[in-house]
Amino acid sequence: MSEISTIYKLSIVAFALFCSASGSVCPVLECWFVQEKPGHGGGFSAPLSQEKSLLFITTEAFSEDIISKLQPPADISPSRIYYVTDAAGSFCSAALNPPKGSVNKPKCEVNPFMPHASMVRWASALTDSAQSPVYLQADWFSVAAQGLDRQLTLSNIMRAPSASKEPRVLLSVSSQTPAVRSRLGEPVLLDCGFWVDPSSPLHGSGFSIEWRYQFRGEGRLVLAHDGKNDRFAETSETGADLDVPGLYETGNASLVLEEAQVRHSGTYICSVYLPHLLAQVAVELEIVEPPSLAVYPSPLPLLVPGQVLPVQCEASGFAPHSLELSWEFRAADGTSRSLGQGSVTGHRQASDGTFSQSSRLELDSGKLGLGRGGDVVCVSKHEGETRRAAAALSVIGVSAPSIEDSMAMVAVALVLYGMIKFLSWTFSSSDSSDADLKDKKEK
Ligand SMILES: *[C@@H]1O[C@H](CO)[C@@H](O)[C@H](O)[C@H]1NC(C)=O
Repeated sequence: MSEISTIYKLSIVAFALFCSASGSVCPVLECWFVQEKPGHGGGFSAPLSQEKSLLFITTEAFSEDIISKLQPPADISPSRIYYVTDAAGSFCSAALNPPKGSVNKPKCEVNPFMPHASMVRWASALTDSAQSPVYLQADWFSVAAQGLDRQLTLSNIMRAPSASKEPRVLLSVSSQTPAVRSRLGEPVLLDCGFWVDPSSPLHGSGFSIEWRYQFRGEGRLVLAHDGKNDRFAETSETGADLDVPGLYETGNASLVLEEAQVRHSGTYICSVYLPHLLAQVAVELEIVEPPSLAVYPSPLPLLVPGQVLPVQCEASGFAPHSLELSWEFRAADGTSRSLGQGSVTGHRQASDGTFSQSSRLELDSGKLGLGRGGDVVCVSKHEGETRRAAAALSVIGVSAPSIEDSMAMVAVALVLYGMIKFLSWTFSSSDSSDADLKDKKEK
């Protein structure tokens, strides 16, 4: 909304004053009002219309006096201005209240909502009385909002007496953790909570909770709880749980995965069913495990100039699969330089879903200018984290041997001489003892 009229600003200021007077700071939410274009009969491919919409929000009911003071901005149709009562203050989170003048805005979409009885097994008990309450005859909306910096995602169901512009939030489902990252093997908490307006007839008439998993078009039921009969639905999922007393006491529907595995990466949808109503939020879980690095052969053998030494870096146990491997050489004086990427193999996937990959490098002391040695370092870049594994490399007999090299060579020569002497002595003595044995046997 580029052009903000003065009247709009004034009305926002008036609203802010009103809010601070009533003790709660709730945002004026700019939302897209999205609905099927009239006259297309519905269905999946029905074209959608999108209009600007504005929600004034308060935790206590709006008075006519206040509404008359709030002047709607010129670029929004008066029919798309709503005065929302949100007793739980779910819309009043800081995540939906960007600091003044910030470029990023929370995302918000309003859709008309059609109350309907749910067919899923764990929610069908909610509507088994078969009567469709008069109460449902009203204007219903669902609002989906995403806070800044992925701090909050929420989905509210609102009811307005027919043709009024003053809806009231009846059901609010939200998550404070719309995007979760976890290492392998750790317990994971996927937050989801719900609230039902205590003043509504739906309060106390039962609820059901469902967690579904979705990844690349594939879906499965993780867990479902029929709150009316206090019963879990049978699922094949193990190691997933929720705190049942917390569900009834505080509406805490958070899902706990005992031990994060690679196969858990994906989208989790937390759905809350009330009789004829449904609201859901999605939580993304990403399992991120950095690679373990090892350089082979270990330890590296001495490198003689002119000789080519193949070295290999093995990165294993990582997820997700995108990884960058490279090599560095750290000279004795502490300076580092790149030795390139080497030849990188394809990925292999282990039975636990983690990946491994390796890179091979031909170490040629002459060509690479390794001097007298240093550290050969394998570098991995994975999900913004850099890891290194170093292996010490000694190059011997470089053109101008240093005193240490000469001494080392003299020492090696002495040792070799000693060994030859020792071996020839042991062989000759064992020969003679064999001969002795033969002599004895013959006797
Ligand atoms: C919800 O329950 C989980 C355990 O199931 C707990 O770890 C979490 O702190 C609870 N959240 C709130 C907001 O109380």
